[in-house]
Amino acid sequence: MAKIAVIGTGYVGLVSGACLADFGNHVTCVDNNTEKIEALKKGIIPIFEPGLDDVVARTVKAGRLVFTTDLASAVQHNDVAFIAVGTPPADDGSADLRYVEQVAREIARAMNKYTVVVDKSTVPVGTARKVMGWITEELGKRGGDAAHLSFDVVSNPEFLREGSAVQDFTHPDRVVIGAESERAREIMKDVYRALYLNETPYIETNLETAEMIKYASNAFLAVKITFINEVANLCEKVGANVQDVAKAMGRDGRIGAKFLHPGPGYGGSCFPKDTQAMARIGRDYGEPLSLVETTIMANERQKQRMVHKIEMGLGGPGSLKGKTIAILGLAFKPNTDDMRESPAITICEGLVQRGAQLRAFDPAAIKEAQWRLESIKNSIVYTNDEYEALQGSDALVILTEWNQFRNLDLDRVRSLLRAPYFFDLRNVYKRKEVEEKGFMYVAVGK
Ligand code: UDX
Repeated sequence: MAKIAVIGTGYVGLVSGACLADFGNHVTCVDNNTEKIEALKKGIIPIFEPGLDDVVARTVKAGRLVFTTDLASAVQHNDVAFIAVGTPPADDGSADLRYVEQVAREIARAMNKYTVVVDKSTVPVGTARKVMGWITEELGKRGGDAAHLSFDVVSNPEFLREGSAVQDFTHPDRVVIGAESERAREIMKDVYRALYLNETPYIETNLETAEMIKYASNAFLAVKITFINEVANLCEKVGANVQDVAKAMGRDGRIGAKFLHPGPGYGGSCFPKDTQAMARIGRDYGEPLSLVETTIMANERQKQRMVHKIEMGLGGPGSLKGKTIAILGLAFKPNTDDMRESPAITICEGLVQRGAQLRAFDPAAIKEAQWRLESIKNSIVYTNDEYEALQGSDALVILTEWNQFRNLDLDRVRSLLRAPYFFDLRNVYKRKEVEEKGFMYVAVGK
């Protein structure tokens, strides 16, 4: 099995490190955040990800997963170095490669033998080649024997979803390896031995193609969601039911049923950032991706539209003034505490701008909400559960489809709410059952 250093213990790094160790590899997870590494050594997992604690505990106990802040030693004692640091969006929409560059250079300064450097972070097409350049430059600076050290760069994009990251990593739809040498390809087969030997499609290609696969996949999914969101908006106007439309469309094998659920707009750490970055690459190369550009705009519009929808539902322009709105769900999707680019941010801010007060509950994301929604903190009260949020509110808005919001005691909801307004922006209820309880029910596209 392979000996691997994973640099960066964020979402992708920690999940990859732990799961690669679970596959039987020896993994050293590295981060420059001392507190994080100290916590991990004590078995404290810094992110909310179902099942991850078990994998970490199991592999640490088996002696195949260790944590350190010492990047140089981790590189020297392993054969493969995964770069899994963040690539946040820069102001112009391009991915900020500062951390990737830093780590690539640090790896080069530490390397003492042939090393495979793997890009795991989602990075613009052309980054692997830049990483090669940075490493070559640093090795050159070291001079002497170091200048002749050989290495390979591999692009190995990750497709895991937050909330089901462990399952996704260990049971992926495909593994993508972009590499330029047979030696690197062989080592990567060893790294992914557990998957390579089963039926998981294993796609070997060149560096640029591997990088493009990740962006094209995420952008396509963002387009798909946005398409159904726009169809939903039109359904509302013409009296059609988008759920039936999506169901029927999804039965067509060429279309597929997944990612056809309309809602308040997509969010999260990947889609908004990757669509921006891909659009940017298209513009830079003079091949604009007009569908992706439009998707980005339409998704912004979708979030704004939700604010408008609530205002209209409550009686028209101005109706939010002085109202208290119960917000159920703040995370960008269920089973995560992550609020990055969550539609809840735009929607909560929009409601407050129009004069509403909010009572909000989320099973995991309140801590993050406290700083992400800093600008409206005087207009928002966080509660201990969903029913407390409803107490004395004029309307209920479901923003994230956590399981515990799918099964609300509607009689109790009705008795707690001051007025019978029920905005189901994730389409988790049936109109009939809600209306029967005397609510004014508003969903998306039906
Ligand atoms: C995503 C991709 O799925 C994954 O392959 C990629 O590598 C990283 O980005 P993730 O960000 O964890 O994963 O979230 P995902 O479950 O895909 O949801 C993305 C967003 O789209 C969420 O805000 C979700 O609510 C929204 N969504 C998804 C919809 O609005 N409708 C859908 O039908 C599906």
